[in-house]
Amino acid sequence: MSMTARRRLHDIYQLSDFEKAVRRYLPKAVYEYVRNGAGAELSLRRNRAIFQRYLWRPYRLRDVSSLNTRITLFGEDYAQPFGLAPTGGAAMTRFDADRIEAAAAHRHNLFYALSANSLTPLEEIIRINPRAWFAAYLPSDLAVIDGMIDRVQKAGYPVLLITCDVPVGAQRIAETRAGYSMPIRPKWRSTIGALRHPGWTFGTLGRTILRDRNPRIVNIRPQGGPGLFSNEIAAVGGAPDFTWDHIRHIRARWNGKLILKGILRPEDAEEAAKIGVDGIVVSDHGGRLLDSSVAPLEVLPEIRKAARNMSVVIDGGFRCGGDVLKAMALGADAVMLGRPFLQACALAGGAGLDKAVSILGTELRRDLALIGLAELASLDVSLLKDLGSTGFAGRAEENI
Ligand SMILES: Cc1cc2nc3c(=O)[nH]c(=O)nc-3n(C[C@H](O)[C@H](O)[C@H](O)COP(=O)(O)O)c2cc1C
Repeated sequence: MSMTARRRLHDIYQLSDFEKAVRRYLPKAVYEYVRNGAGAELSLRRNRAIFQRYLWRPYRLRDVSSLNTRITLFGEDYAQPFGLAPTGGAAMTRFDADRIEAAAAHRHNLFYALSANSLTPLEEIIRINPRAWFAAYLPSDLAVIDGMIDRVQKAGYPVLLITCDVPVGAQRIAETRAGYSMPIRPKWRSTIGALRHPGWTFGTLGRTILRDRNPRIVNIRPQGGPGLFSNEIAAVGGAPDFTWDHIRHIRARWNGKLILKGILRPEDAEEAAKIGVDGIVVSDHGGRLLDSSVAPLEVLPEIRKAARNMSVVIDGGFRCGGDVLKAMALGADAVMLGRPFLQACALAGGAGLDKAVSILGTELRRDLALIGLAELASLDVSLLKDLGSTGFAGRAEENI
């Protein structure tokens, strides 16, 4: 580990520490792009507050000397029930972040999804991590969809994840106010921010431009994608006329596992199961899209029921091992985390990710033992006292 990484990581004890620590090293525009949520950030805060609704009812005097945290997901074995959520724009937070995240996930035997909103060709990422998933943002044009499916299939991805919750772009005020924009357009606030963070300006942005000349969102279309400074970049995201018909079409063409991300209603889970989708991610996109939507955790049990044989992954606000275990007790097969891993990578690259994985894994094992279980498979709803949808002390004012 480099001296810089060691120094930056020395005071990190829990995942929420990464957000505080990385603030010093990123220009405000980039820091806020990662941290912020949509609108008044009610959903961002609720995603955290909702964990207070469920309290543990632990068993005593059970043998927990040998713990097993492995899971099987989409036919693959993983070391932990948590993985890395797709996060677009990762390369804005650290030079080569796409490659660093893919490699860390592979090293730790965790599942990982590459966002289509990325600068590294998907064909290179799958060489670094042969089990990577590809998280697509697709338009409604069938020729483009087919071209994209063929490209991802040819590259050898076993899992295609479709992000379904972005029919239109979101409004996130903190990042906009701080000067974050795509395409990149230097504004006085973001320029001052960049000048105050020469480490980021030269080490991340400068190095990326030096290497790629005109960095492009290369995985958004079959033939590549727009440059970071081009107006065409506005098309990165979903499409307002992308519907269930497109999912049926994709299911017929894509041979691998298919996952829909962004499900928050049981009816949508039922529809996905009918179409032959293999899994869903119960998600509100980390509170980044529709403010005041339900928190994924509170709708998990009804969606689990509706999902039949599909695998159910969840994300949004997971920040410690106990959070992951609560979701599994409520019926999730696995959990994804977005911001904590991205911030860990931004702070200290691969060493940051190693630390994040170690913290989360250690917490998970400790809490599993303290609950009185040796196996994740023994988690069930009887272990939780549910304070009810209105009964928990939602300290929504604080970002807990
Ligand atoms: C900076 C950032 C970029 C994201 N980009 C994408 C994306 O390209 N595709 C996608 O499906 N979700 C994206 N997400 C959402 C994450 O996959 C995930 O749903 C969310 O971060 C989970 O919440 P958490 O950050 O509280 O863990 C992004 C999230 C962040 C923070």
